[in-house]
Amino acid sequence: MIIGLSSDLLAASEPVETVGPNACAECHKQEAEAWKGTHHFSTFKDMPRNAEAKKIAAKMGVKRVKTESLCLNCHFTVQQKSNKAEPIAGISCESCHSGGRDWIKVHSSYSGKTATTETKSEEAERWKLSVSKGMIRPSSIYLLARNCYGCHVVPQENLVNKGGHKAGSTFELVSWSQGEVRHNTWYNKGKENTAANAARKRMLYLVGLGVELETGLRAVGNSTARQRYAFEMARRVDTARKKLSAAAKAAPDVPEIAKLVEFAYSASLSLNNTGALKGAADGVSKLLVSISQKYDGSTMAGLDSLMPAPEKFKGTARKPVAQ
Ligand code: HEC
Ligand code: HEC
Ligand code: HEC
Ligand code: HEC
Repeated sequence: MIIGLSSDLLAASEPVETVGPNACAECHKQEAEAWKGTHHFSTFKDMPRNAEAKKIAAKMGVKRVKTESLCLNCHFTVQQKSNKAEPIAGISCESCHSGGRDWIKVHSSYSGKTATTETKSEEAERWKLSVSKGMIRPSSIYLLARNCYGCHVVPQENLVNKGGHKAGSTFELVSWSQGEVRHNTWYNKGKENTAANAARKRMLYLVGLGVELETGLRAVGNSTARQRYAFEMARRVDTARKKLSAAAKAAPDVPEIAKLVEFAYSASLSLNNTGALKGAADGVSKLLVSISQKYDGSTMAGLDSLMPAPEKFKGTARKPVAQ
């Protein structure tokens, strides 16, 4: 069960579906090594000892951040052990690719054959089945982005207003996914950690901004008090819609971007406007799904000048070590 969060804002993995990063690492060694160098890994140990964490926890009435608390949803991977849910790692594989219980065997099975004997249609069927069992693949940019923003916007009013937690960070999907988080080492057999190509970066940039808008609109819609949370979430929406307006001009052959901007301005960013803001967010969501199905970024070169350059990437991508 997702504790204390409205499910439309965070698609965290269900504890009963968690197999844990060690199970993934049995095959995905390089990806696991890259993960071990990230803040997502180290937060498991570091966060509970952090002085600021103790302050936030005290204000929220949380005695132990690793047991009963709402911190679990965003800082840890939780697994169901015989009769209780237990944090087993920081933010790990399944926080982004979703709980593996039902798809881990399927996705790696080559349909009972081998990489070379499996037919194209069997392969397509295997991926279809993996996705229907919850797997979030790198090609599902929208779903991946929803997970990142669901945590990084920190869409929880109480935690921000009462707990004094940061109201999220200046998250941006290209720069934050291509630095320390990057682990594109599987399909080249660990030869290198390849950055997303130009077309894919444009999709990450555009869909990321759209999801920021969607998440922000829902967060403003759920605000109840004229305090820091509501202001910061409204500011986030305003920034995202301005950036999207610039994107609409830069990529005029993608008319859906202008429609995103229209939705963004369709509901006023005020308290007690939940219905209209939710409607706007739902509209944005539908458009993002269709943008991610219809485009691959190859025609969006106009976005390149708006996107963060490699020196802005958050942290450094791990170089794979030959095994
Ligand atoms: C038994 C080995 C094995 C295990 C365990 C395993 N994987 Fe995989 N994984 C594979 C193989 C094989 C592929 C590539 C299949 C192909 O090329 O068609 C793959 C591909 C992937 C991909 C890329 C999918 C895509 O769309 O191209 C992701 C993401 C992934 N695995 C995540 C995970 C996660 C997360 C776990 C743990 C929950 C996990 N894997 C556990 C073998 C494994
Ligand atoms: C909705 C998701 C969410 C929840 C719930 C949440 N956090 Fe965070 N927290 C984050 C994110 C995302 C960051 C990183 C912010 C950034 O990007 O700089 C963070 C950062 C922090 C930091 C500063 C960085 C660090 O880890 O050293 C502390 C301390 C912290 N959180 C404590 C807590 C505590 C204590 C709780 C529970 C009472 C909690 N958080 C609940 C999402 C969350
Ligand atoms: C913070 C979210 C996040 C975490 C944690 C994470 N992944 Fe990923 N994973 C992604 C994203 C995003 C991509 C696509 C990256 C891109 O487009 O540059 C990806 C891509 C992949 C791929 C495809 C790599 C390739 O060569 O193209 C595999 C396999 C994979 N992840 C497995 C894992 C495993 C195993 C773990 C845990 C050890 C893990 N991931 C942890 C978000 C995550
Ligand atoms: C389950 C919640 C969650 C998800 C999903 C998530 N993150 Fe995070 N992320 C966090 C938290 C919490 C921290 C802060 C950890 C710390 O420093 O203690 C963090 C830290 C980071 C950092 C390091 C920031 C720094 O200060 O250097 C990067 C980069 C990052 N996340 C990128 C991503 C990307 C990209 C995605 C999606 C592909 C993603 N995250 C998904 C919760 C999450």
